[in-house]
Amino acid sequence: MTAHPKTFAVKSFGCQMNVYDGDRMGELLSAQGMTAADANQADIVVLNTCHIRERATEKVYSDIGRLRKHGRTPMVAVAGCVAQAEGQEIIRRAKVDVVVGPQAYHNLPDLLAKAARGEAALDTDMPVLSKFGHLPARRRVPPSAFLTVQEGCDKFCTYCVVPYTRGAEVSRDFAAIVDEAKALVDAGAREITLLGQNVNAWSDGVGRGLHTLIRALDRIDGLARIRYTTSHPNDMTQGLIDAHRDVEKLMPYLHLPVQSGSSHILKAMNRSHTRDSYLRVLEKVREARPDIALSGDFIVGFPGETEADFADTLKLVDEVGYAQAYSFKYSPRPGTPAAEMVDQIAPDVMDDRLQRLQASLNRDQEAFNAATLGKSCSVLIERKGKLPGQMLGKSPWLQSVHLMTGAAIGDIVSCAIIQAGPNSLAGSEFAV
Ligand code: 5AD
Ligand code: SF4
Repeated sequence: MTAHPKTFAVKSFGCQMNVYDGDRMGELLSAQGMTAADANQADIVVLNTCHIRERATEKVYSDIGRLRKHGRTPMVAVAGCVAQAEGQEIIRRAKVDVVVGPQAYHNLPDLLAKAARGEAALDTDMPVLSKFGHLPARRRVPPSAFLTVQEGCDKFCTYCVVPYTRGAEVSRDFAAIVDEAKALVDAGAREITLLGQNVNAWSDGVGRGLHTLIRALDRIDGLARIRYTTSHPNDMTQGLIDAHRDVEKLMPYLHLPVQSGSSHILKAMNRSHTRDSYLRVLEKVREARPDIALSGDFIVGFPGETEADFADTLKLVDEVGYAQAYSFKYSPRPGTPAAEMVDQIAPDVMDDRLQRLQASLNRDQEAFNAATLGKSCSVLIERKGKLPGQMLGKSPWLQSVHLMTGAAIGDIVSCAIIQAGPNSLAGSEFAV
């Protein structure tokens, strides 16, 4: 029997959807009268875990061990995708108090009460999005807020655990999303990023896609910027591409993972698009919004990837000129088809390819940043900088910009870009 916790900490790992879920779990615990605290002082620590790559499970066990160091015995709840994948095994192995999956965390208060009574508290059910109806209203949010509109994935790329940990593709209800967006704006959001594992597969059930939602959000007074992530190339409909041309609030940034530049590897990955079909989508997007910043995800060392396949990836990078991108070494995930494939690639080959790919991507990111020198742009101020009077924010192209200004967090200021580094820009505010 443990006393019911009074303070909590939520630590989120992995994607932005986990950040959103972590925030909402925090709000849920606050609504129970608990207060937020540091992880090494809180009565309960929620580890909101990610299962996408590398020894994710082992990392969770070592994190749990670390929390219990120095004679501290906080309650521990494991949430997120490792909770979903491992379930009961975590309670057996690490004797944690609560295990809760990504679709069940609205039950966290009940699970905590159960755990406090000394009962096993596990919930990895996957009801169809019922959690959203059970979460407290948003109260104070940052100027740039996340809003989950879609969850799960039906694509079954052969390397990926998401279809297993997050379940099938499900879209949240249109009206509920618009209500939450309005509540976010009332609570201080100026920018909303619509989130989903396949956000551009969002549909209202009667054939209207993500662009309908974007156009509805466009009409919310006080909302200045709209973004969405992450997308699948096959779900980039003409309607969505047109929105990039027509909707001023939709920021000129698109994260569109390709994973590989080799059509042969894309087939083995079950990506259901080719190198050429991907490039054609980008061409149309650039036609609609010529200044768009493109971003992507890449995996190097997928089983069977030859030097020629990898050269195709480097060529694709050269052709596209990404503003920014993420690249990973292939990591075999238990239960996925690719983990069973023969001709897995040696670690030193993967290291070498990752380095070469990242050199190209870094070169393009620097070039993209350098091209903004001397241009004017708007910056949404998100937080204070290190120097007195300095503030940090984001450009429309999602670059970090620092500048001296009297503006407050949540303001949007106009500036000229006066310095461009590999990872950030400096701006000079225009006199008003
Ligand atoms: N190994 C390496 N990277 C992966 N990703 C997903 N699964 C794996 C894996 N098994 C990457 C993909 C995806 C991003 C979220 O993580 O690039 O787009
Ligand atoms: Fe994973 Fe592919 Fe679905 Fe993306 S589209 S979540 S990589 S299965």
